[in-house]
Amino acid sequence: MLTKAAIVEKARKTNDRSIDETIAHDASVLSGQLQILFEKLFSPNAQKELRRFSSAEAARLLGVTDSYVRHLATQGDGVTSEKTTGGRRTFSLEEVNTIRSHLGRTKPSYLPGRREGDHLQVIAVTNFKGGSGKTTSSVHLAQYLALRGYRVLAVDLDPQASMSAMLGFQPEFDVGENETLYGAIRYDGSRRNVADVVRKTYFTGLDLIPGNLELHEFEHDTPTALADSSRNENEMFFMRVGNALQSLEGNYDVVVIDCPPTLGFLTLSALCAATSVLITVHPQMLDVASMNQFLAMTSDLLSVVKEAGGNLQYDWMRYLITRYEPNDGPQAQIVAFLRSLFGERVLTSMMVKSTAVSDAGLSKQTIYEAGRETMHRQTYDRGVESMDSVNGEVDQLIRSAWSRT
Ligand SMILES: Nc1ncnc2c1ncn2[C@@H]1O[C@H](COP(=O)(O)OP(=O)(O)OP(=O)(O)O)[C@@H](O)[C@H]1O
Ligand SMILES: [Mg+2]
Repeated sequence: MLTKAAIVEKARKTNDRSIDETIAHDASVLSGQLQILFEKLFSPNAQKELRRFSSAEAARLLGVTDSYVRHLATQGDGVTSEKTTGGRRTFSLEEVNTIRSHLGRTKPSYLPGRREGDHLQVIAVTNFKGGSGKTTSSVHLAQYLALRGYRVLAVDLDPQASMSAMLGFQPEFDVGENETLYGAIRYDGSRRNVADVVRKTYFTGLDLIPGNLELHEFEHDTPTALADSSRNENEMFFMRVGNALQSLEGNYDVVVIDCPPTLGFLTLSALCAATSVLITVHPQMLDVASMNQFLAMTSDLLSVVKEAGGNLQYDWMRYLITRYEPNDGPQAQIVAFLRSLFGERVLTSMMVKSTAVSDAGLSKQTIYEAGRETMHRQTYDRGVESMDSVNGEVDQLIRSAWSRT
């Protein structure tokens, strides 16, 4: 055990450093230890891999019965599956999609993606309140849609890059310079084609434009660019995210953008690129009070953008209640209050606080990736049910924007 004198001496030594040196030291120690931790958690070079689905799960994803899925699997006709040692059939997401195409040949409604004339849906998930559930909502929504056969692009606009980490890329180790969306929206000569920063993920049907700290640069560069009157108006900061996504238009049905917890140029540019907006709200008084500021500031800033020629037409905007605790009276009151103010703009379904979501999050997984057998069944079922009903409601909004029933 350290003596008191030794502790004082240790503290003095620490304070000998200036604050920048202390922070630099801590960053380097943390980075080294994180690398070791990640290597332990995910063995070296291990890529994340999507699990296989039981026939009951495949049936639910397809909207048919379990026995019909098993029947199709025995018929061949291009439909493949694997059998476990217990004799149960399992399906990869590719195999589920093969069945989906098979079903779609006779009934197109099994194929949910865009049809001729349908526009690309770009959903910005935002709120400048940190920890309001943006990333959790974005990743679960993107995966939910990919599981149901949409072609999805996830865009991580947050320099903290939690979405990228959830989707298998460690921002510190796997994402290099000019490999985020910044590369495709920057103002200088190093700008590159957006297609070059898109990555496939281990999750079939889900691509990612990852993030890392370099996204911050956009916030620094934009004021300088704004001061330069010779700039082309079509290249104003608020057009950049939309313009970049435009060139990928044909490859996807839905884009989900995870915004940073700030109301800067990145968020404003994402809002201008968006066809729909999801504002995540944790129903606590302090969060709702800060949401009030978020709304007032966003509307002020967007009205300036609109005057400068920004396109602010959108299909829908919804508030999503996150981390809801059904037994918490004050939370229920806040939700009732928001519903009375905003009516249908508050999604009917709420994302309940679930240990299944946070437990899966510990190993950078969503509840959709973690299998039911990995946790307490009831907890898992309640978590999935809540996520599914939220995402199902968003799915309905997407379809109605394409005038489908
Ligand atoms: N439904 C849920 N049940 C349990 N925990 C949740 C749920 N949703 C989010 N969390 C946890 O709450 C924390 C904050 O969520 P999240 O990272 O999604 O918020 P965020 O708005 O993206 O945060 P930031 O502003 O830092 O980007 C995370 O630790 C996440 O695991
Ligand atoms: Mg986040």
